[in-house]
Amino acid sequence: MNQPQPVAELVGVDKTYRLDAVDVPVLHNIKLLVRPGQFTVLLGPSGSGKTTLLNIIGCIDRPDRGQVTVGGCDTGPLSDDELSDFRARNVGFIFQNFNLLPVLTAYENVEYPMLLAGLAPKVRAERATHLLKSVGLADRARNLPGQLSGGQRQRVAIARALALRPKLVIADEPTANLDSRTGRSILALMRRMQQQYEISFIFSSHDRAVIREADDTIFLKDGVIRGIRRRGDASPVPPPDSVPGR
Ligand SMILES: Nc1ncnc2c1ncn2[C@@H]1O[C@H](COP(=O)(O)OP(=O)(O)O)[C@@H](O)[C@H]1O
Ligand SMILES: [Mg+2]
Repeated sequence: MNQPQPVAELVGVDKTYRLDAVDVPVLHNIKLLVRPGQFTVLLGPSGSGKTTLLNIIGCIDRPDRGQVTVGGCDTGPLSDDELSDFRARNVGFIFQNFNLLPVLTAYENVEYPMLLAGLAPKVRAERATHLLKSVGLADRARNLPGQLSGGQRQRVAIARALALRPKLVIADEPTANLDSRTGRSILALMRRMQQQYEISFIFSSHDRAVIREADDTIFLKDGVIRGIRRRGDASPVPPPDSVPGR
């Protein structure tokens, strides 16, 4: 049976940080596949390597060893400039701290990546307006981030992440700075956006309660993938070497 092309595939990925001449090994022999059109959760305790792994999948950082393929493109041979260009065109990001530009309005924050990408004013206006409406903020377009609640800021960040129509959106602990009710509504919104725009979504969390939202859950601990669970699997977390197809 023909499998659709994975959105991202990592094979044999290692990452070690070097701090004051001390090696801090963070990721060990990561092998994983992000399936297209799915809502994937990367679950692990603080310090387990989630941010490092997401940065590698999202082409913000490179591994020390191993292969990273995103959207069918082997990213290893790309120069730094080519890699950041590739990232800008293919990956959207949502961060724990929202990372909005404080001097720009909600509308301008959503428009900003399109401005950088050189999109025509009409396209920018249509998309920014449409996206702000999609995330329920049509009436807050002129507000600065400082005039928005945390949940509203994250909605702006979600709209911004979708502005260049990436195939993959990466969200690093997008609900960690929100109260649990707002966090749930942000999760539901990301889920809706994932379905509406048929993108693949991968987000990290240290909260096991998010598992119920996921199609695929990847369990990370001490930089090692401990198991992968597909939606509907009744079994508990499988040991890594018994995960089919990994
Ligand atoms: N730039 C860095 N330099 C050195 N060590 C780092 C750096 N970034 C992260 N680490 C270390 O790598 C480990 C994993 O960090 P991280 O990927 O941020 O985990 P998580 O997102 O799961 O909390 C931690 O032990 C952290 O201290
Ligand atoms: Mg992190």
